Amino acid sequence: MTTTKQLPMLLPDLAGKTIVVTGANGGQGQAEVALLLANGVTVIATDLAEDPAPQLLAAEEGSEGALVYRSLDVASGAGWKDLAAWIRTGGKDLHGLVNNAGIPHRARINDVEETDWNRVIAINLTGPMLGIQTLSPLMTAGASIVNIGSSAALNAHYTVAYTASKWGLRGLTHCVATQLGPLGIRTNIVHPGYIETPMMAAAPTVMTNAQLALTPLERTGQPEEIAAVVAFLLSDAAAYVCGAEIPVDGGFTSSAGVKYMSDTIAAAAAANQPTEPASV
Ligand SMILES: NC(=O)c1ccc[n+]([C@@H]2O[C@H](COP(=O)([O-])OP(=O)(O)OC[C@H]3O[C@@H](n4cnc5c(N)ncnc54)[C@H](O)[C@@H]3O)[C@@H](O)[C@H]2O)c1
Repeated sequence: MTTTKQLPMLLPDLAGKTIVVTGANGGQGQAEVALLLANGVTVIATDLAEDPAPQLLAAEEGSEGALVYRSLDVASGAGWKDLAAWIRTGGKDLHGLVNNAGIPHRARINDVEETDWNRVIAINLTGPMLGIQTLSPLMTAGASIVNIGSSAALNAHYTVAYTASKWGLRGLTHCVATQLGPLGIRTNIVHPGYIETPMMAAAPTVMTNAQLALTPLERTGQPEEIAAVVAFLLSDAAAYVCGAEIPVDGGFTSSAGVKYMSDTIAAAAAANQPTEPASV
């Protein structure tokens, strides 16, 4: 199986718009920023570090867009307020917010520490809530908020704090879509499957293999494949998409583990083993 690293995508209505992306220095964040810059967006890229990743500066070069970088810890309410005040000073409408920053934590229920649980919830769930609360007042009709969930938000992935935080983000998405929809502000959530980023570089190999065995497309995803869906949701091409949950996971959650059953039956048939009850 192959995939296309560069996904050309032209969304002309995004040109000249201002959009905030959190966790911009990470794998998917970089791809989202690069695609938005290529579409002429002024991207306010934020992350924990003081400086942007070199890849963000490289993406800005020769693009139609502009990159502005700000250090922001998404779990800090004061940080979000500073960012909102700074954007307000610039006097521009904010078109979009991509709540992309997130951290994994791969402990099970009997092992998870309270401090780790609280940190995961603070970054993965409270962060997006604070971002929407502080930045949506800068938005007008036509604006778009995109939350980055996870396939773990659609199933019982063993990573208890991470999974709970992403299920919570689904609830936040639907509440906000309902409350901001009447203002013409759309809110949606994208659920990545296994995407090749620094976050997954530390994933146990057995987990990688197990997920691949359950993914109908039988490959991992690339950050650009998430960025393409995020950019679509930010654009007018998605003008009537509000409160939607979009898995971008090679069919992993759609199959719901049934790929294992399907493959097992197919393998048995190929080996000429009986696949029907003898009486039928
Ligand atoms: N990679 C995957 O397979 C996958 C699957 C499902 C969901 N996701 C989600 O996609 C999003 C992006 O993940 P990624 O794979 O690009 O991860 P990544 O680790 O490559 O990047 C995450 C970025 O978030 C930043 N970050 C961490 N804590 C922060 C904080 N408190 N404030 C601001 N920034 C912070 C990091 O510095 C990093 O740059 C996350 O929300 C993640 O949960 C990823």
